[in-house]
Amino acid sequence: MILNQISYLDCIAFLVFLAPQLLIRVGFVQTVSCVITALPFFLVQLPYQFIKERFFTPVDQKSSFNQHATPFQDFVIRCVRYAFAKIPATIGKVFFSKGVALPFFWFRMLRHGYRKSTVPWREVKKPGLHGIWMICDETKEPDIVIYYCHGGGFSMGSSFFYLEFLLAWVGILKESGYSNPALFALEYTLVPDSTYPSQVHETLSGYEYVLSKISDSSRIVVSGDSAGATLMLSLLLYMSQEPKLRTQLPGLGIMISPWTVIVSPKNKDTPSDYLNASSLHLYGSQYIGSKASASDSLVSPGKCRDKEWWKRASPSKGWFFIYGAEEVFAPETVDLLNFLKDEVKTEVGVHEEKGWIHAWPVVKLFLCDGQKERQSGLRSMTKVIQSRLK
Ligand SMILES: *[C@@H]1O[C@H](CO)[C@@H](O)[C@H](O)[C@H]1NC(C)=O
Repeated sequence: MILNQISYLDCIAFLVFLAPQLLIRVGFVQTVSCVITALPFFLVQLPYQFIKERFFTPVDQKSSFNQHATPFQDFVIRCVRYAFAKIPATIGKVFFSKGVALPFFWFRMLRHGYRKSTVPWREVKKPGLHGIWMICDETKEPDIVIYYCHGGGFSMGSSFFYLEFLLAWVGILKESGYSNPALFALEYTLVPDSTYPSQVHETLSGYEYVLSKISDSSRIVVSGDSAGATLMLSLLLYMSQEPKLRTQLPGLGIMISPWTVIVSPKNKDTPSDYLNASSLHLYGSQYIGSKASASDSLVSPGKCRDKEWWKRASPSKGWFFIYGAEEVFAPETVDLLNFLKDEVKTEVGVHEEKGWIHAWPVVKLFLCDGQKERQSGLRSMTKVIQSRLK
């Protein structure tokens, strides 16, 4: 089930679902004051900058992103950039929460004439474990499982916001010849409600859930974007130190725009990306908390330069990294993947999306026009899975 691109009607529906959630979860006064604070940006700055850069700026002076972006992509990314820099995470997290994302997903399904997802899914909620399990045929063991962790700077995001992306991925795996693909998406606790290491422990509980579903751990692909990819890297470093877990590592790791070093001078604002280094610094510090150290390998996996440790922690069929050339995390990502390739000598596939920005394989499903482009991230990741895990 692959839905069509986002329309303006979808955007309106999203706002309709968002408004009551903001009132319930943030309150009237804070919501209204946030809207009023944002008005000068939306009424003056945004239109002015948009028109200036789109129509009155020579191509070579535009940001790399805007040299390729459609007006819709340009507009949305400007809004996201503003929101990420200026809107507090207490408000930002409502945007991606289950209460908004799930009705929005249903709305999009109904608009396309679906009353049920073609890939069945259900929420898993037990003590210490929360997530979404999707599988083509629940009565049979899966032949491949993706274990996915969403991004959002540890402070926002939910698996429900990723439902459309993840269900499309399972559908594409099925279409590519796997008989019963499955996926588990983890709901972990966001900051500041909890800090490191609880998220890593939750990620491990999710992995144990996946292990209970498939007997051969080499048929597991761990994946995630941004902070979710960080958690997967931390998970593997952690598991490789535990004798009981060391033998149950996954077959492949697909890292989408990982936040490899939580606090790094290399994580700098870029003209193209929507991430904001100072907001990242704030959320990153909240994640680290008061007890851990920013340079701990399990906090910032990109800080780990122990070859033997990475050798033990690497999935049996290696890694695939996909990131935007213009994103804030690109320099640290390149450092880590080069280290894994050249020093650790594990198999590392790399796809750098030239001119594009953070988590583009995910974002483009929402912001690109044609189906070919929308699905291209999912398809290239699926090809890697097919070539490494036949
Ligand atoms: C990031 O946020 C800071 C503080 O709000 C702001 O001064 C800066 O311009 C922002 N950077 C970008 C690229 O939006």
